[in-house]
Amino acid sequence: MKKTVTVFAATGVAGSACVEELLRMQQFNVRVLLRKSVQQEKSSSGALRSGDDKQQQRNDWMARGVEVRSADVTDHAELIPALEGTDYLVSCVPLFATESQYPLIWAAKEAGVERFVPSEFGYIYEWEQFWPTDTVHKTMSRQKAFIRRMIEMAGMDFTIIPAGLWPEYYMLEPVGVMGDGVQKFSWSTGRDVGRIIPHVLAHPASRNAICPVAATAYCSWDELLDTRERLLGRAVARNHLSSAQWQAAYAAQPPGALKHLLAIGVAATECPEGMPLWANWNALHLPEFKGTPLDELFPGYIEPFVAAMQASLSN
Ligand SMILES: NC(=O)c1ccc[n+]([C@@H]2O[C@H](COP(=O)([O-])OP(=O)(O)OC[C@H]3O[C@@H](n4cnc5c(N)ncnc54)[C@H](OP(=O)(O)O)[C@@H]3O)[C@@H](O)[C@H]2O)c1
Repeated sequence: MKKTVTVFAATGVAGSACVEELLRMQQFNVRVLLRKSVQQEKSSSGALRSGDDKQQQRNDWMARGVEVRSADVTDHAELIPALEGTDYLVSCVPLFATESQYPLIWAAKEAGVERFVPSEFGYIYEWEQFWPTDTVHKTMSRQKAFIRRMIEMAGMDFTIIPAGLWPEYYMLEPVGVMGDGVQKFSWSTGRDVGRIIPHVLAHPASRNAICPVAATAYCSWDELLDTRERLLGRAVARNHLSSAQWQAAYAAQPPGALKHLLAIGVAATECPEGMPLWANWNALHLPEFKGTPLDELFPGYIEPFVAAMQASLSN
């Protein structure tokens, strides 16, 4: 019998790509949760979709067989019936809305959900939470690690999917390279993260496991930036920053989105030997999964994202 997957924050970047891949695979029944409550609207990038735009997306999904269930997602009395019949609950809530998952965990347990996939999709937070330098990112990593504990305490299975760096967020020039540029990192665009989630879920090794994927590419900063240079036909300005330089830049930066990005550089460059915050689980378990080719990704997705980011920072 097909398992039923419910996606929370389905109209986000990772969420919508996840729903599309679930539909393409035809291996699961697909549901999305519609948030009825008036929570503050958030997004990882700061760009918000209009209510009409999101409704259009849900209408399209419903026409293709997706069941939409709505609930006040802060109220367990409404959430429990909305989640009944769900086997796997996949949460794709944005960067600054991790706490919106707390009522969901309780309700999922009561509704008999078998497995909860919390919104992670970055570093291996289970490790980062214990790194030496305290930053805004480390606080978030502790919160994400805490969410995983809550899922376990509730008696549900979990699948944790770290995805490394979303390359679109780190390509503003001069690019701040994290480390020597030669060490391999995991790169997963938001869309490839969403695409890989159902494949990870469908794999038996993902039950109660941390599955750190490189959904787009597993390569060094230098390899990634060399590809970008070839595609742009020009040099890409870059600075190779040591751990001490990331820490100094972080300390000097006032609060805001940029400080958060600098904190990510701090974490990346202070990994103890043999404990990187990313890995390539999919190379071992999902060799057939293909990330979006870089030659397509840079011109079609990353460069427009970087241009929008540049414009919003200059405003
Ligand atoms: N490693 C990296 O470099 C990196 C970069 C970016 C993001 N991430 C991580 O990836 C995950 C998903 O991020 P994303 O960028 O895909 O998310 P996103 O696109 O920003 O998510 C936006 C969606 O979240 C829902 N939403 C809005 N406000 C909400 C609230 N207050 N509470 C709950 N849901 C709300 C809405 O969907 P509905 O209206 O349909 O509910 C909205 O369309 C996050 O955990 C983030 O930390 C990692």
